[in-house]
Amino acid sequence: MKKVTKICCIGAGYVGGPTMSVIASQCPDIKVTVVDINQKRIDDWNSDNLDNLPVYEPGLKEIVSKSRGKNLFFSTQVDKAIDEAEMIFISVNTPTKTYGKGKGQAADLKFVELCARNIAKVAKDDKIIVEKSTLPVRTASAIKSILDNTGNDVRFEILSNPEFLAEGTAIEDLLNADRILIGGDDTESGKDAKNILSSVYEHWLPKERILQTNVWSSELSKLVANAFLAQRVSSINAISALCEKTDANVAEVSRAIGTDSRIGPKFLNASVGFGGSCFQKDILNLVYIARSYGLQEVADYWEQVIIMNDYQKRRFAEHIISTLYNTVSGKKIAFYGWAFKKDTNDTRESAAIYVADALLDEQAQIVVYDPKVSKEQIYADLDYLGTRSPEENRKLLTVVTEPMEAAEDAHAIGILTEWDEFKSYNWDTIFTKMLKPAFLFDGRRILDKDTMESKGFQYYKIGQS
Ligand code: UDX
Ligand code: UDX
Repeated sequence: MKKVTKICCIGAGYVGGPTMSVIASQCPDIKVTVVDINQKRIDDWNSDNLDNLPVYEPGLKEIVSKSRGKNLFFSTQVDKAIDEAEMIFISVNTPTKTYGKGKGQAADLKFVELCARNIAKVAKDDKIIVEKSTLPVRTASAIKSILDNTGNDVRFEILSNPEFLAEGTAIEDLLNADRILIGGDDTESGKDAKNILSSVYEHWLPKERILQTNVWSSELSKLVANAFLAQRVSSINAISALCEKTDANVAEVSRAIGTDSRIGPKFLNASVGFGGSCFQKDILNLVYIARSYGLQEVADYWEQVIIMNDYQKRRFAEHIISTLYNTVSGKKIAFYGWAFKKDTNDTRESAAIYVADALLDEQAQIVVYDPKVSKEQIYADLDYLGTRSPEENRKLLTVVTEPMEAAEDAHAIGILTEWDEFKSYNWDTIFTKMLKPAFLFDGRRILDKDTMESKGFQYYKIGQS
């Protein structure tokens, strides 16, 4: 069996960057080069000031500083890195299509195809290609077809190695993965390739945790894992609505059902709705695939997870409006948090975007504070929706860098992300700064109802009447 000495990863994003940093730090004998077409991103990865890394993840700085310049490199020289490497990870983004067939559901594979064509053009010797991006089932065969038909008579082995890291805990998830999934052909060369990739992970993970499957099982498992996780969140969110109408408390229900070992305690936190780059996209993808095979009931079943999530975001916004005497027009509403979860600067599909959009439709004046998300990103998220002009978004929504400034003269505060720092704020001071009655809408269930009410807030917590 051949050993890998040089790895290249195309795509220096939330997945490619942290994953390759961990591989480099655990495998000093392997040279890892992460390439990206975005010069700014690469400059940021190479920045002397480690606070400027393009991805914020606890523990990432330390790992990058340990390996960068030794066996970890960030570069825009894509062709050179492809040429050198024996193993190439494809970790480019695969957004939901915004045009043509499958618009709004299918994954857009144009970046993956571009990568495959580029590899085919540049490669002069045999290579193992690893799909890291989440892809619709059977993409590996499409990549193989491109490589085999446009290549320079070079042999390519295609593996699927989906990523299961969650943002905010990426480094821990990578170092201590529950499992690594490697899909590939069951031919001799396919098995060899799977073993070679396995040997990379065996630098730090026990072999039992590395599962080998056929390539389609691997591709599908990624979509299914995310669909099951998202389904749990939608299930508990559905129950949160029912709890609010009754005297049940969703936290108590979660605890009661989670202690059943068949159900388990994780992913049962009711919230304003799940976000992130994966859940919605992967479920839409699953729905699209099921429908394209004529499996209408299967498609409808999974689509309901998204419908429930949209309902939860809408419900939160509508609750704010109805509580504020059915009008938020001209009222200042502070948002604590914009990221899709704590400990990340990623905002893709964040519930905050959709709640803000609904309130801006009612002409609310929103002031956002998030400890890690930039003003530019927040405006980009809103502009991307295309609901109103960029000028109007900037007129109605402002971004501040101080939580207390956001609270000044606000009619209400909405908690949209569960950042730990929000729990330790001086809520008495916040109360005095706000207009009265001071409304507090806790979309993440991080504060205590009795405590907040005793301070004078009109406090609403998702899933509690
Ligand atoms: C990843 C996976 O690729 C996606 O399929 C999965 O579902 C979620 O995580 P992520 O790393 O989060 O995506 O994406 P992003 O942060 O957007 O990074 C992708 C990078 O690829 C970008 O920096 C982009 O510039 C780069 N890219 C894209 C290339 O270098 N070449 C291209 O042709 C296209
Ligand atoms: C997810 C998967 O967990 C990971 O395995 C996969 O590789 C990528 O997609 P990620 O999107 O980074 O990871 O974060 P995750 O922790 O799964 O949270 C997703 C969303 O669900 C967040 O908005 C989070 O706030 C929400 N959530 C999660 C809840 O609302 N309640 C919960 O109990 C758990």
